[in-house]
Amino acid sequence: MGLQMSKQTQRAFVPDESNTRLLRDAFGRFATGVTIVTAQTPEGVVAITASSFSSVSLTPAMVLWSPDRNSRRFPYFERAEHYAIHVLAADQEDLCFKVAKDAGGLRGLDLGQNAEGVPVLEGCLARFECTRRAVYDGGDHAIVLGVVNRAEMREEGEALAFFKGQLGRICAH
Ligand SMILES: Cc1cc2nc3c(=O)[nH]c(=O)nc-3n(C[C@H](O)[C@H](O)[C@H](O)COP(=O)(O)O)c2cc1C
Repeated sequence: MGLQMSKQTQRAFVPDESNTRLLRDAFGRFATGVTIVTAQTPEGVVAITASSFSSVSLTPAMVLWSPDRNSRRFPYFERAEHYAIHVLAADQEDLCFKVAKDAGGLRGLDLGQNAEGVPVLEGCLARFECTRRAVYDGGDHAIVLGVVNRAEMREEGEALAFFKGQLGRICAH
């Protein structure tokens, strides 16, 4: 009885070019945090909002994220030897949207710079300062694997979350 009552309608499909919307929606069922990746370029500070971040390895310390090949920012991030990944807190929604809209969205902010010259944001939940190790084929995205040279984190604060195409917050309890 309980089982039957909790049974939900499932939608099954075979992913192809005609139903990428569905696939995007299915991918969106995987709740993630939200990051901002920054790099220094000849054009100035370039940033991108990314939910594709994932931790990979403890020793050596490695993380990955996936830039979209169709993004105008892609060339900057594919080329960036050094970059920083910032895990956003729940109260950084404005920054998330600003950077999603505008690659130069962080210009004008009082950014610090790390030893490799990468622009860094203060006050995020966590920050991973990386050196690119490899860029793998990931279809219409690339998979950028990096070694973490330096990391920092904050004790308090809820996380900004991305779920079903919308922002939310995650708190530990
Ligand atoms: C919550 C969120 C997560 C995103 N995650 C990614 C991502 O993982 N990879 C990516 O390439 N773009 C991601 N984007 C899109 C970029 O932030 C940005 O909007 C896009 O690069 C804009 O394209 P343009 O550079 O051509 O203007 C995300 C956007 C949002 C709002």
